[in-house]
Amino acid sequence: MTYKPEAVRKAYDEIAEKEDKFEKEFSLRNQVPREFIKKYLKPSDNVLDAGGGSGINAIMMARGCKRVTLVDISPKILELAATNIQEAGLTEKINIMEGNIADLGQFREAEFSFVVCVGGTLSYLLEKGQQTIQELVRVAKRGATLIIGCDSKFGFVRWLFNQSDAENQLESAIEVYDTNEYQAAEGVFARLYTVNELTRLLEDAGCEIIEIASTPTLVDSWEQSSYPKEKQRKLLDLELKFCCLPELLGMGHHLFCIARKM
Ligand SMILES: C[S@@+](CC[C@H](N)C(=O)[O-])C[C@H]1O[C@@H](n2cnc3c(N)ncnc32)[C@H](O)[C@@H]1O
Repeated sequence: MTYKPEAVRKAYDEIAEKEDKFEKEFSLRNQVPREFIKKYLKPSDNVLDAGGGSGINAIMMARGCKRVTLVDISPKILELAATNIQEAGLTEKINIMEGNIADLGQFREAEFSFVVCVGGTLSYLLEKGQQTIQELVRVAKRGATLIIGCDSKFGFVRWLFNQSDAENQLESAIEVYDTNEYQAAEGVFARLYTVNELTRLLEDAGCEIIEIASTPTLVDSWEQSSYPKEKQRKLLDLELKFCCLPELLGMGHHLFCIARKM
């Protein structure tokens, strides 16, 4: 399929409230990338949050760095981000911009010291994935940390078989394997990546890979909002012990790399 930005914008405008709720709830898919962001973020960092959604990651980062710029394609999502950022008292530190991360022409080369693109945004870019990674690397300083994620091919297929009608998912799984894509909403398709494909794109764009992780590896669902509150931290800590094991990479629904611009 070819990338249609207007279809992605429309889909996210329609599910903006749901997306905002998901970003605020506990899930390994949200928390694990956040733990890696905390591990690498420095107080002096100027951050780009590409496809930043309703701003929950941006708020977390703004509390520990100099400045965050959040770019997102959906005006409705950005309205919610503005409210969240205002409620957090961080309007001075977070800049919100509507835009398509496939073209970051509004930013100079080497403008940011930390670049985040997590939560599957890259997967929506389809054939523009390589161009998008090149743009994310272009706006990063030499030595900058980049945390770039996508939907994992194996993780997605494994998840299909964990649906209640698993026996009916075989044809879909074969199709997903062959096409590397799945349909996320009307007119919206997402590109699934293997570990090698994602790392190759980053290396070709001039990065070295520092760490690779995928999540969730311990549980099949990517939604754990009903998991008992008092056990959430323990579950997250255990997941953090597994999520980088080479034998499990790609197994989780979300796959991400921590990379450094060389
Ligand atoms: C699943 S959400 C992830 C939000 C956030 N990064 C997180 O991890 O919680 C994907 C976000 O990417 C945005 N998006 C999708 N395609 C985009 C594009 N080409 N440029 C900018 N934002 C995009 C959507 O509007 C949505 O807010």
